[in-house]
Amino acid sequence: MDTLSNLSESKTHYFFTIIFTLILLIFFFFFSASDDTSPAISYRSLPGHLPSPPNRLPPVFPGARFASKLVSRNGANSGRAEEKMDSCDVFDGRWVVDQDLDPFYKQGSCPFVDDAFNCFKNGRPDSDYLKLKWKPHACEIPRFNGLKMLKMLRGKRMVFVGDSLNRNMWESLVCSLRASLVDKTRVFEVSDRRQFRSQGFYSFKFKDFNCSIDFIKSPFLVQEWKFSDKAGTRRETLRLDMMEGSYDKYYDADFIVFNTGHWWTHQKTFKGKNYFQEGDHIYTKLEVAEAYKRALSTWARWVDSNINSTRTTVFFRGYSASHFKGGQWNSGGSCDGETKPITNEAHLAPYPWMMRVLESVLSQMKTKVIYLNITKMTDYRKDGHPSVFRQAGSMGRGGFQDCSHWCLPGVPDYWNEVLYAVLVKNQRKFGRD
Ligand SMILES: *[C@@H]1O[C@H](CO)[C@@H](O)[C@H](O)[C@H]1NC(C)=O
Ligand SMILES: *[C@@H]1O[C@H](CO)[C@@H](O)[C@H](O)[C@H]1NC(C)=O
Ligand SMILES: *[C@@H]1O[C@H](CO)[C@@H](O)[C@H](O)[C@H]1NC(C)=O
Repeated sequence: MDTLSNLSESKTHYFFTIIFTLILLIFFFFFSASDDTSPAISYRSLPGHLPSPPNRLPPVFPGARFASKLVSRNGANSGRAEEKMDSCDVFDGRWVVDQDLDPFYKQGSCPFVDDAFNCFKNGRPDSDYLKLKWKPHACEIPRFNGLKMLKMLRGKRMVFVGDSLNRNMWESLVCSLRASLVDKTRVFEVSDRRQFRSQGFYSFKFKDFNCSIDFIKSPFLVQEWKFSDKAGTRRETLRLDMMEGSYDKYYDADFIVFNTGHWWTHQKTFKGKNYFQEGDHIYTKLEVAEAYKRALSTWARWVDSNINSTRTTVFFRGYSASHFKGGQWNSGGSCDGETKPITNEAHLAPYPWMMRVLESVLSQMKTKVIYLNITKMTDYRKDGHPSVFRQAGSMGRGGFQDCSHWCLPGVPDYWNEVLYAVLVKNQRKFGRD
């Protein structure tokens, strides 16, 4: 009897243990699942929002796929949330026509648009290119709201570091924010400059918000250099192993938007002969793809060891597409007469090798960098460039067309709309609205 009752008791015990374990498992599953889904539900207007990871990593933006991998590497994310995020890549979308669309600032209204981007002033007659807005396939992004953005930027500093396409984006943002001010005299360039091409540093202050939006010229992000050979001839090189020297002007900003791209396809770079340098060594020949990778790795190391990511949010803006037909920028390439975007995705160019290199470098970084993946978005817009309207009057024979920068208002306004969307989504971290 004893043994029997013992046996049945242990059977009962066994039974209850199994039931208890099952209940625990169900509870565990239920809560871990709801952890993943609830933030996506509460951010339905912007699907793909990730829960704030418990280890205080900065929040993640849905478009940045590798950034999500960085978070999951730290154990703060699950496969499920990542799938959702992938289902809304805000950079995967199309341009939709809206005849009632007003640009964020009226053509010709902003004194801070460089003449070279001021197509309206230079006589561009058509305006359909201003009636297009960016629409992601899988979700909505909020319409740009300058006042709301300024409130989020109160007391803060945002710096664009890169080439003239970042200058294009920076001028767009300054003008978009300015348009929301009643008293427009409350924004000014600190040295009262009215053209923004020759200097290496410009800073716009929005006085009522104690906020500044700056541009720092650094077209390669690494250092342009001069080297004297044995004969004493000095020649230009590019130091792939050295961060460009202006970093002390921005390393502690609240937001930094980097870019580098187009200069790597210019002649002297592209040939790669006796141009790239590391330490005392000048490469007689180095593939530009390899050089670009080394330069970005230098940049990545610098970011990882010098940026305090609690204080500073780092963005990298991707490659902006050019549309030269029948030649290059310096050999008669043109895009004039283009008044409509590409609508068939099949006609878009393949994703550029530079961005593949960038993605691979970013994926190995410690710092979470938000990648503004604008390549495809720009590739549609063969209608958005200044072409012959890059300066006033007739260009004269032999004048180059500009099919790489963008008319303002125009395409970069929508890069800033996405930037704005990032800030809105992360208001808890950045905002005081
Ligand atoms: C303005 O912002 C800077 C940081 O960008 C801060 O040091 C300063 O105290 C602020 N001034 C006011 C009046 O809020
Ligand atoms: C990083 O920035 C935060 C916020 O400004 C600050 O509290 C912290 O001390 C900084 N960390 C380092 C290592 O400087
Ligand atoms: C960026 O967009 C391209 C399409 O233009 C896509 O192929 C690529 O995977 C995207 N990269 C990331 C990290 O989302």
